[in-house]
Amino acid sequence: MERALALLAAGEVVAIPTETVYGLAGDATNGEAVARIFEAKGRPRFNPLIAHVASMAMAETIAEFDPLSRRLTEAFWPGPLTLVLPHRATSGIHPLVTAGLDTIALRMPRGFGAQLIARLGRPLAAPSANSSGKISATSARAVEGDLGGRIQLVVDGGPTQVGLESTIVKADERGLHLLRPGGISAEEIEAIAGTKLLRNDKAGIEAPGMMLSHYAPGAAMRLNVSAVEPGEALLGFGQRRAAGAADAVAFLNLSETGDPREAASNLFSHMQALDRSGAKTIAVEPVPHAGLGEAINDRLARAAAPRDS
Ligand code: TXA
Ligand code: MG
Repeated sequence: MERALALLAAGEVVAIPTETVYGLAGDATNGEAVARIFEAKGRPRFNPLIAHVASMAMAETIAEFDPLSRRLTEAFWPGPLTLVLPHRATSGIHPLVTAGLDTIALRMPRGFGAQLIARLGRPLAAPSANSSGKISATSARAVEGDLGGRIQLVVDGGPTQVGLESTIVKADERGLHLLRPGGISAEEIEAIAGTKLLRNDKAGIEAPGMMLSHYAPGAAMRLNVSAVEPGEALLGFGQRRAAGAADAVAFLNLSETGDPREAASNLFSHMQALDRSGAKTIAVEPVPHAGLGEAINDRLARAAAPRDS
């Protein structure tokens, strides 16, 4: 517990047991910590992560609860249920956790995870502790074998009780959507909700293509630019500037030193800030593809894709 707290406070990531599967946890309010999660997992894309909380008071500062979602928390929290809810702008959660969405996935785990979050006093972002494309780890040994060389601490809490990821649901005007089946059955949820779960109706972000419309800024995006055109804002990377940079409507640098981790942590907030500058187009300097650069370029390509698809 003490080692995990010290590492998390320093912006490092730690593998922790939860009742579902092991999680790769980082301080959800620290962009570099969240970037480290993606780096350690080798995820080629910035999927939104679940924010884990230790109390309803903490959850209420992060998201807005409708009556049905609140009833589900009373029945199932702490436990293997994740709720997708409207995200409060004042939550302090770093935008890399939600991948720039205006909703957030929240869950209150049982056991060690909950104690750790309460002690830290901050929410933890934690996807399953496996490298991208591998199955979720349900023992510390499995985490160690997969990610051991890339992270400093795996907390061994024995085999996980549930062994499956949490069930993810989202309430909206149309009803209660099942976004991912998991550790709590649909029937158990339906019994509390008093309604059938809606399935496969695209309320979530199941398919990568769906991310396009969700993730697009208002401005058009022009990638890999070597020169800025009149009226454009500029999103930079590193020390070499595109020609005409001084005339850009607005300029922000993802990372002055060319550090991919810093660039990842700045990506969503910088895109949003340049979008607010009112420029019709955001020109983006080239970002190298190595390491986290792959996910950064994936995200930029989605933002630049045609909008009405
Ligand atoms: O049991 C679990 O849920 C484990 C443990 C560690 O808590 N965590 C986990 O996280 O499975 P991860 O990152 O592997 O899965 C998160 C899922 C993804 O499928 C993601 O698309 C979805 O949550 N998600 C996150 N935010 C979302 C949002 N705003 N809207 C819809 N889906 C969201
Ligand atoms: Mg996973």
